[in-house]
Amino acid sequence: MSTPSGAIERFDDKARESFESVGQTTIYRGELLRHPVYTRVLHWTVALFFFLAVFTGFALYLPWLFHWITPLFGGGQLTRTLHPYFGVAFVFFFAFQVLNWLEPMLWTAADSRWMRNIKKITTGEEKMDPPETGFFNAGQKVLFWEVVVGCVLYIITGTILWAGARTFGPTAVAISYVVHDISAIVMLGGIFIHIYQSTIGEPGTFGAMIRGAVSEAWAWTFHPAWYKQVTGRDPQQAYEEARRRMTTGSKP
Ligand code: HEM
Repeated sequence: MSTPSGAIERFDDKARESFESVGQTTIYRGELLRHPVYTRVLHWTVALFFFLAVFTGFALYLPWLFHWITPLFGGGQLTRTLHPYFGVAFVFFFAFQVLNWLEPMLWTAADSRWMRNIKKITTGEEKMDPPETGFFNAGQKVLFWEVVVGCVLYIITGTILWAGARTFGPTAVAISYVVHDISAIVMLGGIFIHIYQSTIGEPGTFGAMIRGAVSEAWAWTFHPAWYKQVTGRDPQQAYEEARRRMTTGSKP
């Protein structure tokens, strides 16, 4: 079984190994390992607590519109009580994902070039991502760092709101409300784009977080430098060969 990148093995090898024995990743011929069980469990735990925090948060923020949510959480008072716990769980599990993904999420000069070409790449004008696109592209890194900044803001403003005006004073509470809510709206917008990109936008990506595997064609199309790193093969050449096979009908 091939491994995605050195960075992915860096943090907490023990946890990763024990998760592999709980879950399963089957890599078929023509596929590559993208996300091990540990990463997938973390991602979906983060997503679960994110949406629990979003639903309870919106029920508190706009009760006239989202009043139908509160009965699902045992009424208004319980929804208010549960919201900060969901938020803390979301930030807590995301912190492990930050350690897990820190290295492949670091910004490089290639990411700045990707950003300058963002229109061509996202509209499909370019058939493949730039050859230097590694394990994560610049768009994915922006989402990741946006969530990191958002989590820091939630910790600060959430603590102030939880403790209340008697501890921090009315001005701190008023500012915290604004920052907390803006941060939630910005993050939710980013997550909508993320869900679109991971499903419809880049077909084949969703499987990476479900089964843990992607096709080689997906890898050379969206992450050519990572494809080269794990297979040792040239992505452009692999693409040309696959195209030739398709048109002539010959076997690999
Ligand atoms: C139904 C909801 C979601 C779906 C379908 C989804 C899907 C995915 C998939 C398929 C990947 C792997 C991308 C790749 O390997 O290139 C991924 C990565 C990731 N997910 Fe999600 N995700 C969801 C919710 C969330 C939430 C709520 C968060 C955090 C608040 C989140 C944060 C991330 C991050 C930071 C990455 C790595 C960077 C990226 O691919 O954008 N996801 N997600």
